[in-house]
Amino acid sequence: MTSRLREQVAIVTGGADGIGQSIVKLFCDQGAKVCIADINEDLGNEFANQLTSQGYKALFVKTDVSDLDSVNNMVNETNKKFGAPTILINNAGIIYQSKDPLAVTKDQWDKSISVNVEGMWNCAKAVLPYMKAARSGSIVNLGSVHSFNIVPEHFPYAVTKHAIIGLTKNLAVEFGEFNIRVNTLCPGMTETPAAFKWFAESGDAEATRKAMGDIHPLKRNASCEEIAYPALFLASNESSFMTGQSLIIDGGRSIVYQ
Ligand SMILES: NC(=O)c1ccc[n+]([C@@H]2O[C@H](COP(=O)([O-])OP(=O)(O)OC[C@H]3O[C@@H](n4cnc5c(N)ncnc54)[C@H](O)[C@@H]3O)[C@@H](O)[C@H]2O)c1
Repeated sequence: MTSRLREQVAIVTGGADGIGQSIVKLFCDQGAKVCIADINEDLGNEFANQLTSQGYKALFVKTDVSDLDSVNNMVNETNKKFGAPTILINNAGIIYQSKDPLAVTKDQWDKSISVNVEGMWNCAKAVLPYMKAARSGSIVNLGSVHSFNIVPEHFPYAVTKHAIIGLTKNLAVEFGEFNIRVNTLCPGMTETPAAFKWFAESGDAEATRKAMGDIHPLKRNASCEEIAYPALFLASNESSFMTGQSLIIDGGRSIVYQ
């Protein structure tokens, strides 16, 4: 075990699966005490038990990021067990997208905004008082390549991912004087369970997986670990003069004019 996050208390939302799960593993391995804040109780408990049995400091708290009471409870539990949170990885997100924006129901719109945007604000709102008191903190919000460009047929997912850039910049300006940094991490296509489900919906999962990989200059999709390491950089003091920025980890996808 190395210790790039020694003495740090990290909260990773959506930490039971996918990118979040890799971030939790890496942060534990780097010496952090980590709260896995996820809506999936079975996966979250199983993962936390596995980590604690290996000697890591991990805690699972069932959390719905779109519910402020649930978020406040999770942050209180983290504080009780590990101390004040110093790192927040706002990773939980849902991918709802429609070919036809006019077909999106109010429920689908509301759910997308409440999990992907309000959920990140709820978590930031709950940890910021602790970070302000400590005059130290790092918040990383998960954006996407959809934070900058519109890929057709991804409404309203792209709306929510654009909004996260605004949330990041606004909080970075308001809380910089307290030595609290806020950045956005923007992955390209990453091979998570959610991505595999989406590949499978095409009817030929392997062909879709390969086709997606081919739109990246590196000719493949990212692994979850390849997103976890940049999250570690943003969370740690290695990025101590970086705030309000977006770190794009997309195998070069966003530089290609199509
Ligand atoms: N996979 C990709 O290709 C990709 C690319 C760019 C950005 N992202 C972003 O990265 C983040 C993680 O994506 P992923 O692919 O790992 O997703 P995933 O679906 O594999 O995992 C998401 C996790 O979030 C949890 N979750 C969902 N709703 C929640 C809620 N309301 N409260 C708490 N937890 C909740 C789920 O239970 C799950 O464990 C998302 O914000 C996503 O938009 C993913």
